[in-house]
Amino acid sequence: TGMVTLDPGFVNTASCSSEITYIDGDAGILRYRGYPIEQLAQRSNFIEVSYLLIYGELPTQAQIEEFSRQISRHTLLHEDLKRFFDGFPRDAHPMPVLSSAVSALSTFYQDSLNPFDDNQVEISTIRLLAKLPTIAAYAYKKSIGQPFLYPDNSLGLVENFLRMTFGLPAEDYDVDPALVRALDLLFILHADHEQNCSTSTVRLVGSSEANLFASISAGINALFGPLHGGANSAVLEMLEKIRQDGGNVEEFVRKVKNKEDGVRLMGFGHRVYKNYDPRAAIIKKTADEILGKLGGDDQLLEIAKKLEETALADSYFIERKLYPNVDFYTGLIYRAMGFPTKFFTVLFALGRLPGWIAHWREMMKDPATKIGRPRQLYVGPAERNFVPMDQR
Ligand code: CMC
Repeated sequence: TGMVTLDPGFVNTASCSSEITYIDGDAGILRYRGYPIEQLAQRSNFIEVSYLLIYGELPTQAQIEEFSRQISRHTLLHEDLKRFFDGFPRDAHPMPVLSSAVSALSTFYQDSLNPFDDNQVEISTIRLLAKLPTIAAYAYKKSIGQPFLYPDNSLGLVENFLRMTFGLPAEDYDVDPALVRALDLLFILHADHEQNCSTSTVRLVGSSEANLFASISAGINALFGPLHGGANSAVLEMLEKIRQDGGNVEEFVRKVKNKEDGVRLMGFGHRVYKNYDPRAAIIKKTADEILGKLGGDDQLLEIAKKLEETALADSYFIERKLYPNVDFYTGLIYRAMGFPTKFFTVLFALGRLPGWIAHWREMMKDPATKIGRPRQLYVGPAERNFVPMDQR
């Protein structure tokens, strides 16, 4: 069988080659298809970035219009899928609701499940991009007992999502352009991050030739965990806990350093970045501005800033190269936008979707792809004889 190398967490093992995203963790560099994240954040928008990630090039005017038109045409959910939300408890976490609904798309679109048929993959791609915001908004509406709104396809993707989330059928919903721009920016920053846990999951599931919906549903479940996408909610819970305990940042940092009760500084540290996360740098720069416009919770922002300052001056964090990651400030912004804490990870999923799709498609086209099947080092008992019940 040859030599097997043990690498828990795949710290040193590349599972594929990819042309999509470049990260230099020591230098704090992130590029999608070669374009620096700073330029995309400033000059592009989420739909265009989605196109770039999935198809490899920035779209022409005609291409982006057609892409947007296609997405607008598919935002409706099947009426039977709408009823699906009634089967969950009112206080259900929206992440498993999201992954279940995406998984269910395999049952509604049986005409587009062949991973090797380009037309089918194309239509599944469009359906996912179009329907995930609708699914996410309905998960929210269900949780607060409000009626679902049909999508308004005269609106852009982000605006439509905000209207379906915060609007009411009997009222006009004027979406604040500052809010749309801020959420669009956050989606751009989350859109891909090479072989992170959820993307690797999408690839692993897809490597068995499972369809796109099944693979993305698995990715959503991976993102649910607090060490991954769940961290954005966990950061806000942490900040609120610190405030409740009297705002003593030093005391909290002391607990983290002593690893009391396994407390971690949420929103800090990254497997790849051993320097400031460039996404966090962009968010930090815009957080004040966005929170100023949206009217955020200044007290929590102050605690966050103090926490960052205290940690970055402390040898524990310096030695381990722990810096704020993308999630450190996002929760504050999401909250200022009006989203409940539980919902933050859903926003991460909406942003990450084009990245997942791009990776799944890249893998399916890659002749080097094989079914994912890691090896192990067996450390259990050597051979032994069965013991009858009366002798155990
Ligand atoms: N607070 C305190 N100590 C930490 C932290 C933290 N946030 N992160 C890592 N460390 C320590 C860890 O205890 C270890 O020290 P020691 O050797 O003394 O035990 C050392 O730093 C290395 O940590 P690790 O767990 O081996 O690092 P990893 O690469 O396996 O974990 C991580 C990466 C992101 C899971 C981790 O840093 C973490 O748990 N951070 C908090 C959760 C978080 O913010 N996650 C969001 C990640 S970015 C968005 C995304 O991609 O989902």
